[in-house]
Amino acid sequence: MRSSPTYIFSPFSLVNRFFVVPLQNKNNKATFISMKRILVTGGAGFIGSHLCERLVNEGHDVICIDNFYSGSKENVWHLIGKPNFEIVRHDVINPYWAEVDEIYNLACPASPIYYQNDPIQTTKTSFFGAYHMLGLARRTKAKILQSSTSEVYGDPNIHPQPESYWGNVNPIGLRSCYDEGKRVAETLFFDYYRLHKVRAKVIRIFNTYGPRMAVSDGRVVSNFVVQALRGEDLTIYGDGQQTRSFQYVSDLIEGMIRMMDTPDDFTGPVNLGNPGEFTMLELAEKVIKKIGGKSKIVFRPLPSDDPKMRRPDITVAKRELGWEPKVPLDEGLDHIIAYFRDYLQR
Ligand SMILES: NC(=O)c1ccc[n+]([C@@H]2O[C@H](COP(=O)([O-])OP(=O)(O)OC[C@H]3O[C@@H](n4cnc5c(N)ncnc54)[C@H](O)[C@@H]3O)[C@@H](O)[C@H]2O)c1
Repeated sequence: MRSSPTYIFSPFSLVNRFFVVPLQNKNNKATFISMKRILVTGGAGFIGSHLCERLVNEGHDVICIDNFYSGSKENVWHLIGKPNFEIVRHDVINPYWAEVDEIYNLACPASPIYYQNDPIQTTKTSFFGAYHMLGLARRTKAKILQSSTSEVYGDPNIHPQPESYWGNVNPIGLRSCYDEGKRVAETLFFDYYRLHKVRAKVIRIFNTYGPRMAVSDGRVVSNFVVQALRGEDLTIYGDGQQTRSFQYVSDLIEGMIRMMDTPDDFTGPVNLGNPGEFTMLELAEKVIKKIGGKSKIVFRPLPSDDPKMRRPDITVAKRELGWEPKVPLDEGLDHIIAYFRDYLQR
């Protein structure tokens, strides 16, 4: 039987303000946890909301900052009102101040539709967001993790992509605001580590999918699932032979937390992704098979600089984090289909 929650004062929070955290009371014994004050930028986005949820459930004191450019309050609605969760409307191109122990820097639209809508804002978000958060980490002596991307490898000439590969990126194309923004953010992270001894960590995230992706953000998994659920044709850009690897969001969150917990002198970069590789055509066929209906596959011209193949080499993540993805594509697709089915009905 569930007992009522116990409220325990956190010694960390007493530094700044009084704050209590409800903990589940097992067998009438109080559970003491090592609670940290954690800032998540972009916390109302797809990945950020899952990270906030996990950290809040672990009892940490979480501040989510977001300008709601591509995320929404709805993603963290279930956390609002919890005593160890705060949400702040803030744009990371401006400085932000709070006493924190850890910072996860996720603020940046990840879908091409959003990041190409205002490319200058995208570059500013990557650069100034990293700059201001590194400044905050330096002042507060917090650990800081940058959510970089496989896009730093561009259209790769090496397959699969290890962290040692420097990439093949077009610096002046339509995707450059995102790719180059993320590259310069990595540069800042390593310079703050070398010059100011900031405890910086960089992960490179490969395609990730799961509940709370935005319906209209045009990323391939959500696109296919939403199109099939609406009975529309599934759009493939190009001939469908280009490949991607798809990581379920819970695997990524586990990898992010393990990365944050590595020793202070371990910076990465570390690839986090699922090495299973599928063509767009295979993915579309899987989705149609699972959802059924009358959807067909239609082909449209490939956008510029679209990578032909993408697959992470996760040797470093396995060795340094003891991490590898657990959720196979078939299982993850079932979760996201259930989420969007419910979402579209609502
Ligand atoms: N989802 C993926 O497959 C993937 C792959 C590689 C890297 N990433 C990285 O992971 C992070 C999260 O991606 P996501 O998929 O959750 O995207 P998302 O668009 O759902 O989330 C990004 C969040 O950042 C917020 N944001 C954007 N600009 C901001 C600004 N200037 N100030 C404050 N908040 C701002 C958005 O409103 C949104 O809530 C991003 O940094 C992205 O580059 C994601």
